[in-house]
Amino acid sequence: MHQGSTPTGQPESHHLTRRGFLGATLAAAGLGVAVYSGTHARHEFEITRLTIPIRDLPDGFENFRIVQISDIHLEEFTEAYFLEQMVAQTNAMAPDLVLVTGDFVSRGPLSLAASWRAAGLAAEILSTLKAPQRFGILGNHDVNVGADHVIPPLEAHGTPILVDSYFPLERGRDVIWLCGANDAGTRTPDLNFAIPPNPRAPVIFMCHEPDYVENVILHPRFPLIDLMLSGHSHGGQIRLPILGPLILPPMGQKYVEGMFQFDHMQLYVNRGIGTVGLPFRLNCPAELTHFTLVRAAESALAPAPATARWPRASSSRARLPRS
Ligand SMILES: [Fe+2]
Repeated sequence: MHQGSTPTGQPESHHLTRRGFLGATLAAAGLGVAVYSGTHARHEFEITRLTIPIRDLPDGFENFRIVQISDIHLEEFTEAYFLEQMVAQTNAMAPDLVLVTGDFVSRGPLSLAASWRAAGLAAEILSTLKAPQRFGILGNHDVNVGADHVIPPLEAHGTPILVDSYFPLERGRDVIWLCGANDAGTRTPDLNFAIPPNPRAPVIFMCHEPDYVENVILHPRFPLIDLMLSGHSHGGQIRLPILGPLILPPMGQKYVEGMFQFDHMQLYVNRGIGTVGLPFRLNCPAELTHFTLVRAAESALAPAPATARWPRASSSRARLPRS
């Protein structure tokens, strides 16, 4: 008997059952992906290792090693134990300098008071970093939570925050400049304060929002910058085949992750270690980036097309057991 032709409704019932079964299967698969993204994949991380050629790098900074941590978003979803693991991984790399490129905390489902407490906890955990020096910049969430509540605990625990300001890193008689922009998503950075006017040495510039690079390259002091470090995008958090990254914030939509070249300046966008909005990562692991500075050969300084991906990254993916 052909389905749908009897008056009893049996075939329709059978049809609905099959549809229901398919729906239940898809729902179960979706739930499985969600559980995997929220528990397992969110705690996967990669260490990306890059060698960065820098113009006229002083001898004292040859093979200088920097680890970048970004977008911690502590306690929106990022657990303290996961940040502690990232600190342990960073300490194991024994860098000369650690840079945290914004969004220590979140302006999300937590109350403001809870976010302020999270800033204190982030400051305490980051104080266990063993690198000789560390610095940070503000992200949009830090400003929305309140810079006056985020900066003091960090600085009290030994993580200075650069807000449209710069600092000389010294090795013997050699210097390079570390610069930090105000958050470009919530405020307007003043690059005349963020970048020294006459550095006579390499310049590393931190700005939370990577798409702000399009303002940077128009500024008269752009030619002074060698390396720009950003975060903010989280790499999209959830990356699906064909669809690509699903969650991209304003000012983190064009330069989503990895290395880009603008004339002589390199921009690196770190995927961060936390999440916002949804406690999910999929095909987009958290990231620590390890940079080794080397003096650039003259031939390496030829202008390259903007937004070219850098080909020399090596990375390894890992997931640690919860301690
Ligand atoms: Fe951000």
